[in-house]
Amino acid sequence: MNLIQDLEILDDLDAPKLTAEEAEGARKVYIETYGCQMNVSDSEIVAAILRAHGYGLTRDPEQADVVLLNTCAIRENAEQKVRHRLDIFRAHKRKQRPGLRIGVLGCMAERLRHKLLEEEQLVDLVVGPDAYRDLPRLLEEAETTGQAAVNVQLSREETYADIAPVRYDSNGVTAYVSIMRGCDNMCAFCVVPFTRGRERSRPVQSILDECARLVEEGYREVTVLGQNVNSYRYTENGTVVTFPELLYRVSLISPELRVRYSTSHPKDCSDELLHVHRERHNVCNYIHLPVQHGNTDVLRRMRRTYTREQYLALVERARRIVPGISLSTDIIAGFCGETEEEHRDTLSLLEEVRFDHAYMFMYSERPGTYAARKYKDDVPLEVKKRRLQEIIELQTRISLENNRKEIGRVHTVLVEGPSKRSPEQLCGRTDTNKMVVFDRQDFRPGDYVRVRITDCTSATLFGEPLGRTTLAESAHTEPVLV
Ligand code: SAH
Ligand code: SF4
Ligand code: F3S
Repeated sequence: MNLIQDLEILDDLDAPKLTAEEAEGARKVYIETYGCQMNVSDSEIVAAILRAHGYGLTRDPEQADVVLLNTCAIRENAEQKVRHRLDIFRAHKRKQRPGLRIGVLGCMAERLRHKLLEEEQLVDLVVGPDAYRDLPRLLEEAETTGQAAVNVQLSREETYADIAPVRYDSNGVTAYVSIMRGCDNMCAFCVVPFTRGRERSRPVQSILDECARLVEEGYREVTVLGQNVNSYRYTENGTVVTFPELLYRVSLISPELRVRYSTSHPKDCSDELLHVHRERHNVCNYIHLPVQHGNTDVLRRMRRTYTREQYLALVERARRIVPGISLSTDIIAGFCGETEEEHRDTLSLLEEVRFDHAYMFMYSERPGTYAARKYKDDVPLEVKKRRLQEIIELQTRISLENNRKEIGRVHTVLVEGPSKRSPEQLCGRTDTNKMVVFDRQDFRPGDYVRVRITDCTSATLFGEPLGRTTLAESAHTEPVLV
């Protein structure tokens, strides 16, 4: 059986090679990551913890002594994917590698806890997102007792601030830096507050130090992460540092370091934050600002704490304070009780805002959430599907129309690596987070390149490179019509 072939994550095959140091160790660990950017960042922390205890990393699950799945519980299909992978690894263990230890980490581990052991008898480890420091001990325990080891304790303090992540899957150009964990918002549909626990922020200096280290190592872009990143708040010697202040300080580390963040909640998108975007040339002109729905009654049922009008007013403010800012969003179709008219309000909001991009989902009931306890999941599947399809078609058209307006403009693109289609082409992002593909010539990952856009799809821009530049140099000149 070829375990890699079965993977949907075939991208892994052309992922960067592990360094000799990362691979060194008597026992090999293979980590597979599902879900959000936070999970990607957590897997780097897990890798660091295990490396420090003598484990080596491997990209080949067949070589692994320990297989860890860092899981997501946000929608039912996310969990199904993991269950399918677990089946495959368990069969591999049974038939070929009895000594293999299989662990479930992350949000599904936290949600299902002991149930996971009952249902999936061949899981050796169940470890929640705040218990990764305990992994080496749990692995030992599983090894010596032959029994499953579990730690799903959530914490009010853990931020892994002192752990230097091992960026084993990195392109060497862009990196995630976790700055807060957990979420206190309790949106009615969402499992995250249950799987990630209470909100807590990481000490300011540890964040600045990590970003400075990344710059020294040659990284050109950081995305600071949190479930509700713009509610970051850290008190030090009686002084409170809020998100705009933190972002500002990160942006001062280097004029050549691009700074992004994800994911922000509209309630915490202050004018002060927008002014940081405006003032700092290296804080990207892009905000992912999940709206979830276009109807105020649905937003209230979702407990999102803003109305349609307030969200639209925020978009207007963002565009006034930061001209040219690019916005993307998340949308849920078919939430409890959603009427046809309410659904049309989502469509009309998309028309009104004209986001550059959207992640669009069908509502999936999560056990234990407010919605699961209080409302009926009463929109029939066929209706959910049709509504989602309408949303996707509309947004794809809008993304394409927005991208067509880019043709003829010149953008500064940070090169991330070869394009998926051809090694002769490179890809990278604009300041506004749009992916651009262009001819390689002699450009390299990490270069800032001026690119004139010549063509597009709804998801990608294509262009011709005009030459290298620096971020500081391009700050006041883009986007330019040439
Ligand atoms: N913290 C982020 C979102 C994390 S989850 C924020 O608040 O913006 C990412 C997205 O998944 C959410 O924005 C929402 O659109 C979607 N989502 C969350 N729970 C869902 C559910 N039960 N069914 C369908 N989509 C869901
Ligand atoms: Fe979930 Fe809402 Fe928190 Fe986002 S803000 S993680 S959607 S509860
Ligand atoms: Fe999924 Fe957990 Fe992230 S539920 S989206 S991995 S916070």
